[in-house]
Amino acid sequence: MYLRNIRVHNFRNHTESTFEFGQWANILVGENGQGKTNILEAISYLCLTKSFYSHGDSYVIKIGNDIFEVEGVFNTERTGDQRVRVAYSDGQKEKIFTINKNHIEPLSSVIGKFPVVICSPEHAPITNQGPIERRRFIDLVISQSSNIYFQHLIEYRKILRNRNKVLAEAKLQKADPTEILEPWNDQLINAGAYLMVRRQKFVDEFERYINSSYHQLVIDGELPSIAYEPSLPVDKSFNQQDAAKVFASELTRRKEREFQVGTTVVGPHRDELLFTINGLDLRRYASQGQHKTFLVALKIAEFFYLREQCNETPILLLDDIFSELDTVRAANLLELVSTISQTFITSTNRDLFDKNVADADSRRMFTISNGAVMEEQKNVA
Ligand SMILES: Nc1ncnc2c1ncn2[C@@H]1O[C@H](COP(=O)(O)OP(=O)(O)OP(=O)(O)O)[C@@H](O)[C@H]1O
Ligand SMILES: [Mg+2]
Repeated sequence: MYLRNIRVHNFRNHTESTFEFGQWANILVGENGQGKTNILEAISYLCLTKSFYSHGDSYVIKIGNDIFEVEGVFNTERTGDQRVRVAYSDGQKEKIFTINKNHIEPLSSVIGKFPVVICSPEHAPITNQGPIERRRFIDLVISQSSNIYFQHLIEYRKILRNRNKVLAEAKLQKADPTEILEPWNDQLINAGAYLMVRRQKFVDEFERYINSSYHQLVIDGELPSIAYEPSLPVDKSFNQQDAAKVFASELTRRKEREFQVGTTVVGPHRDELLFTINGLDLRRYASQGQHKTFLVALKIAEFFYLREQCNETPILLLDDIFSELDTVRAANLLELVSTISQTFITSTNRDLFDKNVADADSRRMFTISNGAVMEEQKNVA
């Protein structure tokens, strides 16, 4: 799949910008704060119906306006050209997503149609902070490749919210919520056990992808690994039934604790993913460069995983990551991404790309200044 073109209207600092993209590397260069990342954010709206980093569509609208609009044409392997448009009105608090002028509802059904892999400094917490970011990572990858997983995830979150409401209310009223909780428990266990089995399966499969992508960036000496650490004490090779059983007994065992704190204390919303290099926990031992390399490798692995699972080649958005890698790793990455897919790269450093690309013919370079495209050069050598 690739994105032929895009038009962004009243989006961040862009009033009206249009791009005709190339099928391979599209490099957006410019000074800080000019509107490069904003274009990647606009592409993220077309693929995921939302921003990859900010929460709240209102902030995205160009200040002083009421509506933003992003429109583009994807050429997909499965169904050919698809004209996709997303528009958000702050006054009406309404977001409309259309594919070939047909309204798509719910918005969640868009996920997976236009697979995308995004790597930006905003994702650094995946490797160096708490488990929430790692769960978000794993959930987005599996959701883009499996709508059933995504539906279970939405369901699980909804049940969890309701269950937590009951627990919080009971705590406030000093009441015993046991009876009211019962139907919620069954639903939580069903959806949760499914998520756990899928996450385990994903991690088992993903290990080889991360290994291979890491070694495309780093020649040798470092062995990366990833492990699933469910918050429930399941045996090593558990199935959905086992997970449900353990989940039920943990809910009973931790009942008093839940009443005390007024929230659900066990379940896949507390799962962890462990990343290691040469057996050492990344969070505790890795250097900054190793963190960055691991993150990029995760994202490249995500790309190959999704390509296989979705029967559609994802596009790659690489926001400002080249300047943070050493020259060998940066050159390896650039060579790799310039040939596997349509890639969007932002950077303040034009020189990096003038020297580095092996296959310069396949690149397009755009200079962004003050929310506008200043120049477009094809086949920069
Ligand atoms: N809602 C908005 N309306 C108008 N301008 C906005 C809005 N949101 C952000 N901006 C402006 O957009 C600019 C930031 O754009 P962006 O993040 O794309 O920069 P960048 O080119 O990626 O810079 P850097 O190299 O520093 O990452 C800032 O000047 C900011 O003030
Ligand atoms: Mg930026």
